[in-house]
Amino acid sequence: MTFPIIIDTDPGVDDAMAIAFAIAHPEIELAGITTVFGNVSADQATANALALLETFGAEQVPVAKGAAVPLIQTPFPHPDFVHGKDGLGNIDIKPAAKHAAVSESAAQFIVDKANELKGELTLVAIGPLTNVALALRLDPELPSKLKQLVIMGGAVDEPGNVSPLAEANFLSDPHSADIVMGSGAKVVVVGLDVTHRVILTDTSLRQLRDSAGDTGKLIWDASRFYVNYYSNVGAASGLEEPGCCMHDAAAVAYVVAPDLFDVICGPARVIPEGIGAGQLTINRKGYTYLLKHWENRSPVTVCMEVKDKELVDLFLQAICDGSLR
Ligand code: RIB
Ligand code: CA
Repeated sequence: MTFPIIIDTDPGVDDAMAIAFAIAHPEIELAGITTVFGNVSADQATANALALLETFGAEQVPVAKGAAVPLIQTPFPHPDFVHGKDGLGNIDIKPAAKHAAVSESAAQFIVDKANELKGELTLVAIGPLTNVALALRLDPELPSKLKQLVIMGGAVDEPGNVSPLAEANFLSDPHSADIVMGSGAKVVVVGLDVTHRVILTDTSLRQLRDSAGDTGKLIWDASRFYVNYYSNVGAASGLEEPGCCMHDAAAVAYVVAPDLFDVICGPARVIPEGIGAGQLTINRKGYTYLLKHWENRSPVTVCMEVKDKELVDLFLQAICDGSLR
């Protein structure tokens, strides 16, 4: 079984891991990358995506540049304290020399690919959801044309990472996130409830450095800054050895290994404004409430548990095997 996917991304150190995993996994066909602001500017995200693809030997994969700002809210500063100023751990990656971004916008590229693949395309969104909301505006039939829409974002029972309630991708554009939750697409949310448990330790990252060729070396180098953040103040602090959360690759892994996750389902909202902005809230019990904001919305699937060790092993195996191909 092969899964054609588009990754919508704001690379981003963990985004780089996700892209490497998608290229390496034998059941995934990376049909394109669309870029969005978030960890870095849209321009930097595009340059990083092109450079990563060349480093990973996948320069044939098309890249379409997307939104530079959120749909409505004022943009937040880029979290350079997590991913570095360049978004890849300040490693000064060699710029792409063999290919450039395509002329279509990210939203147009998503719509065109969905129409071309007639229901077989999985969209994996691992940054703010602005491009996805714009693609839905461009083609209101898009939800029925996607096989699945797998999203790294949100937090239900787990505390957020940019406020006690909000996760970064959802808070970066909460209006778009709420539009996507109500779109009727087959949405699967891989949020902090699971990704805070998917820890890549330095032992695992060293294994990639030493046995996964240029891809493994890039992931090791780019992860130094990111691991330093996560081991000192982030969700991987206080563990036996330095490590980091493998947020984005967990979302890509869901495409090929959904059985590693336990889920809940129900209509969901993302709070667009106020101190709760970015919060993902789901009516998981199907209750009828006085307030009707969750009604007339297709249910979404939210991952709440994960077999984290199996997931990390799947990631490491694919990258190491992929470097041998
Ligand atoms: O909250 C984690 C998410 O925000 C990840 O996608 C990371 O790359 C950042 O975009
Ligand atoms: Ca990301």
